[in-house]
Amino acid sequence: MLKDKNIILGVTGGIAVYKAADLVSKLKKKKTNVEVIMTEGSMEFVNPLTFQTMSENPVHTTMFNKISKFDVEHISLAQKGDLILIAPATANTIGKIANGIADNLLTTVVMASNKRIVFAPAMNTCMYNNPIVQANMKKLENMGCYFIEPGSGRLACGDYGAGKMAEPEDIVEYIDSLLTDKDLLGKDIIVTAGPTIEPIDPVRYISNHSSGKMGYSIAKEASKRGAKVHLISGPTLLKAPKDINFIQINTTLEMFEEVGKLFESCDILIKAAAPADLKPKEYSEKKIKKNNIKDKFLLEFTENPDIAKYYGKEKTNQILVGFAAESNDLIKNAELKLKNKNFDFIVANDISIKGAGFKTDTNIISIIDDYGKNDYPILEKTEIAKIILDKAIKILKNKS
Ligand code: PMT
Repeated sequence: MLKDKNIILGVTGGIAVYKAADLVSKLKKKKTNVEVIMTEGSMEFVNPLTFQTMSENPVHTTMFNKISKFDVEHISLAQKGDLILIAPATANTIGKIANGIADNLLTTVVMASNKRIVFAPAMNTCMYNNPIVQANMKKLENMGCYFIEPGSGRLACGDYGAGKMAEPEDIVEYIDSLLTDKDLLGKDIIVTAGPTIEPIDPVRYISNHSSGKMGYSIAKEASKRGAKVHLISGPTLLKAPKDINFIQINTTLEMFEEVGKLFESCDILIKAAAPADLKPKEYSEKKIKKNNIKDKFLLEFTENPDIAKYYGKEKTNQILVGFAAESNDLIKNAELKLKNKNFDFIVANDISIKGAGFKTDTNIISIIDDYGKNDYPILEKTEIAKIILDKAIKILKNKS
């Protein structure tokens, strides 16, 4: 929930300052207000004008500005922020804060704040592993501060190891999660996502265009809101989300079996995947050779289990959410699936419309249940995930 939130971004002096500019841009895209405080060291790397332009706010650099309006800058900034993020956070600034030193605007704002403080450390590996730095971080963690673990790799100084500031998109996700209400705490949610693949021989398979974006968005949103999430995913190009029980499968049968292991104890099952309904009847252990195919190559198919239909019959208190991917007669077909598969509600998307269905970051959906239909405009899949979860949790509460 970063929209309309106020983030105080403390930028300290390290080469990762350039990444902080990207971080501001990513936060602005989420409609977050960002107030940047730069330390003297950071201004050696990047001019404040960069952050002023990116944040669309004046950049705060000194304790002793001429007073333009009657408020004390460090106090008003400390009160204004929903969260203080220090990225990149140097060993020097971490050390000062851990030991109560407030000798510049950033450290003074931190000292005057009672909000959450998040550090994204960035420094040389030896510095990062130094017992003094580690002890300072532990001390701050014990006091309730948060640390976003740095990545490993080749550092700007030429060394290899831990110390690269976390990627801006991961930092945004981290603070988004911290600021989100945990209204799904204690809930167990299964999400299926992506395509399944059905092998023909060791080289070939049949599949579909699902990228997994819809299902992954739902899984991430549910996790952010405190649910225990199991994401059962076919092969996609997406990163396995953090803090989620991620289960990789290939075939529809494997997806069916994995859902079976978790279904009984779950509260909500969301079937955003596009499982193949059919699979080749025979699997050839050896690659099928072109010259063995005389006239034409005919492939015989057999049916895969219909996962949603099976668990629609099995369900007791679980909420079952389905999707309908259609290229024609969207609502009629979705209504049929709602009944046949015993979904609590179904999310219908027309895969032939631009901006909807497979691969895109957006979708255009109608939600249908026994009481009627709601149409939505084109929205980011991340926004659609919120709508789906809000509805599922409302039905779950009404049931219990
Ligand atoms: O992954 P993206 O690129 O982001 O694309 C998103 C999406 C288009 C895949 C997603 O929004 C979507 O519509 N998913 C459902 C795709 C699908 O298989 O629809 P269907 O109408 O064929 O199936 C109806 C429902 O039954 C679905 O919930 C499906 O998961 C489920 N099903 C289908 C076949 C099967 N053997 N078992 C199932 O459980």
